[in-house]
Amino acid sequence: MAQVEATSFPAGIGMTTTQAPFIEDAKAHGRLYIEQPYQLYSEQNHEAWRRLYHRMLPRWEKYANEHFLKGIANLCLDPNKVPKLEDVNQFLCPLTGFRAKAVSGYVPAFQFFDCLRQRDFPTTITIRDASKLDYLPEPDIFHDIAGHVPMHTDKAFADTLVRFGECARTAADIVSRIGDEEEKMRRLTSIIKAMARFFWFTIEFGLMKGPKVGEFKAYGSGLLSSFGELAYSIDSPDVQRYPVQIEWVVNQYFEIDHYQPLLFVVDSFDHLFSLVGTLEKWMKDGRLNNVSPGEPGVGEEDLKSFLHIDL
Ligand SMILES: [Fe+2]
Repeated sequence: MAQVEATSFPAGIGMTTTQAPFIEDAKAHGRLYIEQPYQLYSEQNHEAWRRLYHRMLPRWEKYANEHFLKGIANLCLDPNKVPKLEDVNQFLCPLTGFRAKAVSGYVPAFQFFDCLRQRDFPTTITIRDASKLDYLPEPDIFHDIAGHVPMHTDKAFADTLVRFGECARTAADIVSRIGDEEEKMRRLTSIIKAMARFFWFTIEFGLMKGPKVGEFKAYGSGLLSSFGELAYSIDSPDVQRYPVQIEWVVNQYFEIDHYQPLLFVVDSFDHLFSLVGTLEKWMKDGRLNNVSPGEPGVGEEDLKSFLHIDL
């Protein structure tokens, strides 16, 4: 089957998470890193962005950490149109060297972390259906650009993501030295699980101490891109909020299909940066080799992505 150029699709055909012929074609041809064919977004796609952005604004002002708010201002996102990654990068890159890089779908774990190491952020370019703004099991461009990227304008946060990428290389190096195949896969599964849990409870669902005593602010992108959960994470008496502890986080399973009942709080992004250093030390000391079982599952593709890496 011949690859279809973006220009072969009618302008405005749409790039919705549930239906995006351009993305389906890219996937069918094994193209993971792609361009963003901006002309394909439909009026409904822009409408979805507009509605998502406008309803989030007051909640960001109330619940988001100050670095995020600064980031939103620095990126100069158009509230009314799906962003062009090219425009986003023009503002982002001079600040921290990070760039949003369009992808057609799931990036296997090692490649994902290694992109971060190189200051590339794999970015979904489809957007949720305008009629279903609330629940979305997979990322979309609103989650990735409005939820993640504003934080990438902050130096300490950007450096933290790079450290994550370095941790992934450390993991690949550690397992490459294990001769026994079964033991190699067992330990790798445990290490990837620990990294995924750490990423989940910080980058995706992290809280930070606010300027006032006892106050919390959100920095996790899963919270910052969810209209309902952002307020819930800070205001609800049903959420447990604890100071982050590595030994707890790496052993704590999570489920993705409902609001999180347990969240962890960091002091600052410098604190978060130092925690990733501790995570790497624990990995080297063998302390991530036997984390508790349970979610998230580690797929074949993620395991394979850590093997035979040119280190
Ligand atoms: Fe995310």
